[in-house]
Amino acid sequence: MAKDQNKTPLFDSIMEYNRLKPAYFRIPGHRYERGINPKWREAVGDAIFGFDLTETYLTDDLHNASTYIKEAEDLASELWGSDYTHFLVNGSTCGNQAMVLTVCGGGGKIAIPRNAHKSALMGLIMAGGRPVYITPQIEPEWGLHGGITPTQVEAMFKENPDCRGVMVVSPTYYGLTSDLEGIAKVCHAHNAVLFVDEAHGAHTYFSPRLPKGAIQQGADMCVQSIHKVTGSFTQSSMIHVKSKLVDRAQLEANLHLVQSTSPSYILMTSLDVAREEMALHGAEMIDNALSLAKAAAEEINTIPGVKCATKEVVGRAGINDYDETRLIVSCAELGITGFDMKKILFFDYNIDIEVTDYRNFVAIVTYANDKSDLDRLVAALKDISAKNIKTGKPLPGGEPLPPIPEYVLSPRESYFSPKKRIPWAECKGRIMGEMIAPYPPGIPVIYNGERMSDEVWEYLERFRLRKGHLQGPSDPTLETMLVIEE
Ligand SMILES: Cc1ncc(COP(=O)(O)O)c(C=O)c1O
Repeated sequence: MAKDQNKTPLFDSIMEYNRLKPAYFRIPGHRYERGINPKWREAVGDAIFGFDLTETYLTDDLHNASTYIKEAEDLASELWGSDYTHFLVNGSTCGNQAMVLTVCGGGGKIAIPRNAHKSALMGLIMAGGRPVYITPQIEPEWGLHGGITPTQVEAMFKENPDCRGVMVVSPTYYGLTSDLEGIAKVCHAHNAVLFVDEAHGAHTYFSPRLPKGAIQQGADMCVQSIHKVTGSFTQSSMIHVKSKLVDRAQLEANLHLVQSTSPSYILMTSLDVAREEMALHGAEMIDNALSLAKAAAEEINTIPGVKCATKEVVGRAGINDYDETRLIVSCAELGITGFDMKKILFFDYNIDIEVTDYRNFVAIVTYANDKSDLDRLVAALKDISAKNIKTGKPLPGGEPLPPIPEYVLSPRESYFSPKKRIPWAECKGRIMGEMIAPYPPGIPVIYNGERMSDEVWEYLERFRLRKGHLQGPSDPTLETMLVIEE
């Protein structure tokens, strides 16, 4: 590598600032540790408060980076292989918003997966863009949404030659990736941008045993929640660009739009030092995490009634690869939903796991887990299996998703339209004012701005009667819904 990845420019300059400790007449008001509640100082120590600074001669300016932040961003750019990189202090949420604004700002058309994170929709509300939805196929064994395929993207361009770009979530929360290389070729043949929500994938660049990263596969830009998979603080993310198709000035203007004018130096420093860690030790760290996860998966797969996903899912439902540091575990054979597993593991075994759906839960294994964490998870699953194997009744499988309903209003139009609340029974034929995503598979069957079809209503009615888990509606009982006033 051309740059010295041992360097931590932002961290070093803030250390120097703290050595100098200028008399402080600026924002924030707490002046190093002096103004902090002693209770908090006692709990965490004083040093961290000296990193909570503002734009100074020694700290640079995120919105116009030219020295310490710029150097830190350039080191990250080199490490992840981009043309340029920006630090983000409002998570991949603001990165997705900025990408959407950049690709379809002013009202253009973009393709987004039906399971996109809500930040993509927020971007569309801001941008006034028009989405074309691509629905990932459902992997039948686990009931999860898989990948988007190049064939789906090609078919989308046939019907929408004016589409300016395609967004893909890869890896998904479950560690499942799409064939980005193939999708990039299709996009570029149509002069369109491939932009990837890689919130869950920054670590994959460090092991040949993990899926290839978006930038490595030819994506034009991607966002990564560095905080989700490496050692930076919550809310700290990055956006990487490697493309001539992305208007850099427009992207940077959009980042001003979606980020605070007082970005946190604690978050930015955490990105700088996490990048150094990954550069120096990432390969070993990620390899260890993967080995721990794979050994645990093997053991979980010996437990009666419990199973853990393996690479066998690759090739199904558009899944191009699987990041095995995401343990996808199902106790459906024991009759226990993922939602209940989360509660049982937390309250009975003192184990906290990440995302859940009806059939599965996901345990994220990072370099910072150790074997004892995984041993505890495996032991808990053995215990749960022993207690339920004789009595548990397997959970029923899911049913196929209904067709995507008619698109009437754009996300922006529906967001700003007057709405009213009506009984659920009267919703057929109405334009929805909120989206509904039943779990599984967690894909919205209707978005705001779409007209409620008979098929979607009946699918949801069966869900409602089973008291299934839904996300989106402001009335979670689904007895009433917000619809657009017509
Ligand atoms: C797929 C996906 N994209 C984007 C985000 C938003 O990321 P952040 O929490 O960094 O804002 C999330 C958050 O969980 C996510 O799962």
